[in-house]
Amino acid sequence: MDKKRDSFSGKLGFVFAAAGSAVGLGNLWRFPYLAAKYGGGIFILIYLILVLTFGFTLMMTEIAIGRKTGLSAVGAFKKLDKRFGFVGYLACIVPFIITPYYCVIGGWVIKYLFAFLTGNVSAAATDDYFTGFIARPVEPIIWFLIFAVLTSVVVIIGVQKGIEKASCILMPILIVLVLGISIFCITRPGAMEGVKYYLLPDFSAFSPTTVLAAMGQLFYSMSLAMGIMITYGSYMKKDVDLHTSVRQIEIFDTAIAFLAGLMIVPSVFVFSGGSEEALGKGPSLMFITLPKVFESMNFGAVIGVAFFILVLFAALTSSISLLETNVSIICDKCHMERKKATILASAYIIIVGAIVSLGFGPLDFVKIIGLGLLDFFDFISNSVLMPIVALLTCISVGFFIKPDFVYEEAECNGKKFKEKKFYTIMLKWIAPICLVLILVFAVSEAMGWISV
Ligand code: TRP
Repeated sequence: MDKKRDSFSGKLGFVFAAAGSAVGLGNLWRFPYLAAKYGGGIFILIYLILVLTFGFTLMMTEIAIGRKTGLSAVGAFKKLDKRFGFVGYLACIVPFIITPYYCVIGGWVIKYLFAFLTGNVSAAATDDYFTGFIARPVEPIIWFLIFAVLTSVVVIIGVQKGIEKASCILMPILIVLVLGISIFCITRPGAMEGVKYYLLPDFSAFSPTTVLAAMGQLFYSMSLAMGIMITYGSYMKKDVDLHTSVRQIEIFDTAIAFLAGLMIVPSVFVFSGGSEEALGKGPSLMFITLPKVFESMNFGAVIGVAFFILVLFAALTSSISLLETNVSIICDKCHMERKKATILASAYIIIVGAIVSLGFGPLDFVKIIGLGLLDFFDFISNSVLMPIVALLTCISVGFFIKPDFVYEEAECNGKKFKEKKFYTIMLKWIAPICLVLILVFAVSEAMGWISV
């Protein structure tokens, strides 16, 4: 702790660093499958409302906590109010739940990249290719190991900066490619049905589950409620405007997720029809739909290779900062040396990730509260722990620590914090009440007390 904290250079440096780790599989893989499953337009509408209200409030608060204290989650909460140190600990659990299964999906991305590289495009485009692949006991674990080891090696030899720089160049290319693929998809016959489904909210499809799913996705995609933004805030210079940065990250992150959905959801209508079954594929959606799109394109094999390379980069920058987070928590808490902590964290990720991967094959009989292993890990972090952390953050800052320091952080450049009233009401009342409702709902549904 005696080392001086590095700061992000320049005004955009902060936004790029935050956006680089925020944009990942959450935007490209998770958002489209949730949008497809939870009613398309209505999901998008709810998500947008949540970004502008919840997302804004939480991200302002977390970054302000970090910049004010100059510490990461555990220390920061302790410094602000001793009684709330446990919120920091709770937040730290989340990255440990997410990282293993994040690497499993990363492995799937490498598998598809390899399939396209070796010219197996038409095989990859068949319906059973994906389900057959994840059900195998060994093969998915090998791809997962490649991804996990790649992540660890980058962190151990400390070349993150290089990877992140590369991703600053590759990310814009990814956006152009996603745009191109969306245009290709929405001009196919039958795609308009899908575009309508994606853009026009059908209010009869509204249910609390949709809100729960959108909220979990918001936390996941913007890396909120897990201490990450507090750490980022601690590296943020005082002359960077908090409010503007938060808006920029929100817009960037949401725009990429939106585009990814626009590429995938209409394709489902074109290639598999708009049935509930086709739309409700869940985690496998991207891997089932996109190969069909590439197969039907001129130069589809080349475009497929380019696409999966770019997705791999986006996934790697996120998995690196996830592992980085795990490592720094272990270093701080167990007073362990960095290299040792990295190896320990990697070993943990490999063991838990392998079990999650087996959950689609030999262990597919293991169901916890009716969910398979990956879905269970996803549920516990996104629908239970993160809402709890968010709730505790709002209550502790709203009523005990008092949000004055957030106003100060927002106004430290002589700017006026125009949304101060709105922010305060969100923080103290609306967010906590909604979060409690959402939590009660999530638990009741998972336990089978209610059904929707
Ligand atoms: N937000 C990332 C994504 O959309 C995933 C993520 C969650 C993450 N928590 C993180 C990335 C912490 C880096 C650090 O894919």
